Amino acid sequence: MSSGSTASDTSVAAIVETRGLTRRYGATLALNQLNLAIPQGAIYGFIGPNGAGKTTTMRILTTLLLPSDGEAWVAGYSVVRDRAAVRRAVGFMPDFFGVYDNMKAAEYLEFFAAAYDIAPARRPRLIDDLLALVDLSHKKEAEVMGLSRGMKQRLSLARTMLHDPALLILDEPASGLDPRARVELRELLKELRAMGKTIMISSHILTELAEMCTHIGIIERGNLLASGDVATIMRELQPHRVFEVQVLADTEPGAAAALEQAAALVRGQPHVLAVRVLPEDEPPHMQIDFDGDDRAVSGLLGRLMAAGIPVTHFAGQASDLEEIFLRVTEGVTG
Ligand SMILES: Nc1ncnc2c1ncn2[C@@H]1O[C@H](COP(=O)(O)OP(=O)(O)OP(=O)(O)O)[C@@H](O)[C@H]1O
Ligand SMILES: [Mg+2]
Repeated sequence: MSSGSTASDTSVAAIVETRGLTRRYGATLALNQLNLAIPQGAIYGFIGPNGAGKTTTMRILTTLLLPSDGEAWVAGYSVVRDRAAVRRAVGFMPDFFGVYDNMKAAEYLEFFAAAYDIAPARRPRLIDDLLALVDLSHKKEAEVMGLSRGMKQRLSLARTMLHDPALLILDEPASGLDPRARVELRELLKELRAMGKTIMISSHILTELAEMCTHIGIIERGNLLASGDVATIMRELQPHRVFEVQVLADTEPGAAAALEQAAALVRGQPHVLAVRVLPEDEPPHMQIDFDGDDRAVSGLLGRLMAAGIPVTHFAGQASDLEEIFLRVTEGVTG
């Protein structure tokens, strides 16, 4: 493993690390000095709009493409100097499924098992296990080209697992899948993670990945704009937190008045940036933009209670990853 590490992700060994990773295609700078680290066991969402450099990065990490400059390591092996070792450590699912005429699902896996030099005696059992894992046992003898897109994706995923790699790199696996197939994919990724795999998965749609990732990296025009565990990224990118407050509905002289009273109290408190009372919403509530820590939050709630405000709900709003993504990439696009 290379020495040193990026500032985040220091607690667990990085299975992927890049330093100053750069790739040019002629005059096009596709990747510009990329420094990222993916800790072992993570589901790392690699997010960026079209042309951001996601596929280029993944192709370098799988040794299909050489960097123009900089370095990258997978499981401690250099993608430039230890290419065979990198290939043993990683399984790659490209963003499109090739054409495989007149091939059955099991034959397809057999073909790639041979390419990976897996002993013939081991193949039948391995193929059955992998088909079961991706829930395609019933399609074992079905023509590959007749499978649905979701099934092809799962078969492709089974293929990436043939040599039991520690790291799976999946380029846009969710694109073109219906909502149900997406849920199935998400469940499958969780299962793979439970098996100890690290997964790097790309998408240009943040919400597609939001719920399944432990870490995210946001890339645009070859520049890594943010990278780290989801909670840290949220904290770093969010200037403040938003709290929702509701009060007892049948209070005298009414919830709206109680909210106004609470708002008047909250407005003068430390760390309160703004207060919005929304009496017409259902249920009536107020929103507090707040930049204090947890101790300050509990102090604020304490003061509401001490003033006799009948608070029934006081909670931080779930942060919207999509909103963060838009904020981070704002001004860079266009
Ligand atoms: N073989 C190539 N020759 C020339 N330019 C290329 C080549 N491959 C990629 N590029 C350019 O490199 C940049 C990054 O492309 P890349 O395919 O890595 O982006 P991406 O993030 O995967 O995009 P998408 O979401 O569309 O898949 C783009 O400007 C693209 O036009
Ligand atoms: Mg791509």
